[in-house]
Amino acid sequence: MSFPRSFTAHVFIGVSLDGFIARPDGGLDWLTERGEAAEGDLGYQEFADGVDTVVMGRATYEKALSFGRDVWPYDGKHVAVLSTRLPADADPRVTVHRSLEELVEDLEKRGAESVYADGGQVVQSFLRAGLIDDLTITTVPVLIGRGFRLFGDLDADIPLTLRSTADMGAGITQSVYEVAR
Ligand SMILES: NC(=O)c1ccc[n+]([C@@H]2O[C@H](COP(=O)([O-])OP(=O)(O)OC[C@H]3O[C@@H](n4cnc5c(N)ncnc54)[C@H](OP(=O)(O)O)[C@@H]3O)[C@@H](O)[C@H]2O)c1
Repeated sequence: MSFPRSFTAHVFIGVSLDGFIARPDGGLDWLTERGEAAEGDLGYQEFADGVDTVVMGRATYEKALSFGRDVWPYDGKHVAVLSTRLPADADPRVTVHRSLEELVEDLEKRGAESVYADGGQVVQSFLRAGLIDDLTITTVPVLIGRGFRLFGDLDADIPLTLRSTADMGAGITQSVYEVAR
């Protein structure tokens, strides 16, 4: 499945060396505790300043709410949540979409230019549909053994080009990969 689109889409995500983005209970301690020891905000703010739209899966949306309903780090951006279950009117700050097709159509209508794709299943869906332009992967040197995976099954290889790798301190590395269109 591939979609004609006029926006670019980007991943910025932290992963354990064994490929997980969260523990089975959603825990991010392995990432945040090491991240605090690393340099600055690991480039998150600069990345976030460059996007006008955030697309996240229901699980990532619910995690964001768990920090408190008043804590909303996405002000000034359009936020879209992919979910087959979340009620359409769950939250006036987000639009809810039942499928990738419906989401992409809406992003095109809104004139989205630069999209941040967040959440493991969302990243996997976007990759399979050829919707990702680049991935900034921050790798934490820890094996957590189980949890939510960043990557999943593919029908065909997705070749990547390494654009940069930086040592962020505390053993953390950050690599930027481009996906050929
Ligand atoms: N390490 C990091 O930097 C980082 C970044 C983001 C998130 N996380 C963590 O990762 C965990 C969530 O991971 P996850 O893989 O479950 O993520 P997710 O992609 O945020 O959420 C999965 C849910 O999103 C919906 N969804 C995803 N793709 C869809 C599609 N193509 N069509 C319709 N619905 C779709 C489904 O919701 P329904 O079940 O409602 O249909 C699915 O169950 C959380 O604990 C979060 O905190 C970590």
